[in-house]
Amino acid sequence: MSFRRLVPVGWGAGWTPLAILRQIGSLPIQSFPKEVKIVEVGPRDGLQNEKTVVPTDVKIHLINMLSEAGLQAIEATSFVSPKWVPQMADHKNVMQGIKKYPNISYPVLTPNLTGFQAAVECGAKEVAIFGAASELFSKKNINCSIDESLQRFKAVITEAKEANIPVRGYVSCVLGCPYEGKVAPSKVAEVAYKMFSMGCYEISLGDTIGVGTPGGMRDMLSAVLDVVPAKALAVHCHDTYGQALANILVALQMGVQVVDASVAGLGGCPYAQGASGNVATEDVVYMLHGLGIQTGIDLKKLTEAGAFICKALGKKSHSKVSQAICKL
Ligand code: HMG
Ligand code: MG
Repeated sequence: MSFRRLVPVGWGAGWTPLAILRQIGSLPIQSFPKEVKIVEVGPRDGLQNEKTVVPTDVKIHLINMLSEAGLQAIEATSFVSPKWVPQMADHKNVMQGIKKYPNISYPVLTPNLTGFQAAVECGAKEVAIFGAASELFSKKNINCSIDESLQRFKAVITEAKEANIPVRGYVSCVLGCPYEGKVAPSKVAEVAYKMFSMGCYEISLGDTIGVGTPGGMRDMLSAVLDVVPAKALAVHCHDTYGQALANILVALQMGVQVVDASVAGLGGCPYAQGASGNVATEDVVYMLHGLGIQTGIDLKKLTEAGAFICKALGKKSHSKVSQAICKL
């Protein structure tokens, strides 16, 4: 793009050098949102990858602590096959054991009607379907092609609509796939649009293996924003390459107001070798509060929840904020 093309007719009317620089970077910079909703995925995405089965009462206590820390949404468990993910086999007891606060939602993963019906029986009031922008990842994760997965999701969404249950949709591998490598932004946009058109109220864009950079996030989001409004998008960044906070910042600048995160940075995906945990919720909250963005979260209580689960797992927290607070 030549500099001349960027200078509009009427140059001088509001076209500061900074505005020109922003155009050159093709980053549509907006002001930051006043509030951001965090979807806490630690009890599900964080724990699903733990090799040793975490006792159900530990999961329940963690979720209750997170509720008390002020999270608005806590992904509690998955209604997936226990043969595939044994760690989530206690979904019924988790759903029935947690204290459910009136203003907090406790969504659960449901890949198909079997999972959806079991979740509803256990009292789930919100569910999430999860697909991918990569064929091979879809096959490895949920044992079907992208098209087949969309058919299954359609069935879930149809029943969910009848039961008045909101459905969130995940698109995995939006910035790279462990099996296919690069993933085209246009493919991400296509899958996100299909899920949104089917009736998902929000689409969470997952950098499943944490390989994305702010440049990749900008390009991918630019494509998705052409077909799905920013108010219906969330970002879900794993932090394998240490880029998650920077990627989230770009997403916020592009109008996204919902961020998924995992307390203590726990997690990974059993079908994405080498993927580290999600960005730590404590670190996202610290950054957002530093920007003057409200989250409704009490950082101290959140770090206590992180300390609790790390002690129970015998692990060190991946949250830089928690590590710093411990040293202070
Ligand atoms: P399948 O084997 O193709 O399913 O698995 P099937 O329909 O052929 O059924 C086979 C058996 O599984 C049957 O039982 C079904 O009843 C049972 P059998 O007759 O052999 O006794 N079954 C189920 N049992 C419990 N719950 C169910 C269910 N469905 C069928 N819902 C399936 C397909 C999707 C179930 C399987 O592939 C699966 O469970 N995969 C788990 C995937 C998973 O949980 N991955 C991790 C979460 S995704 C993620 O982490 C990414 C995310 O964080 C975003 C990001 O980071 O990008 C969300
Ligand atoms: Mg994930």
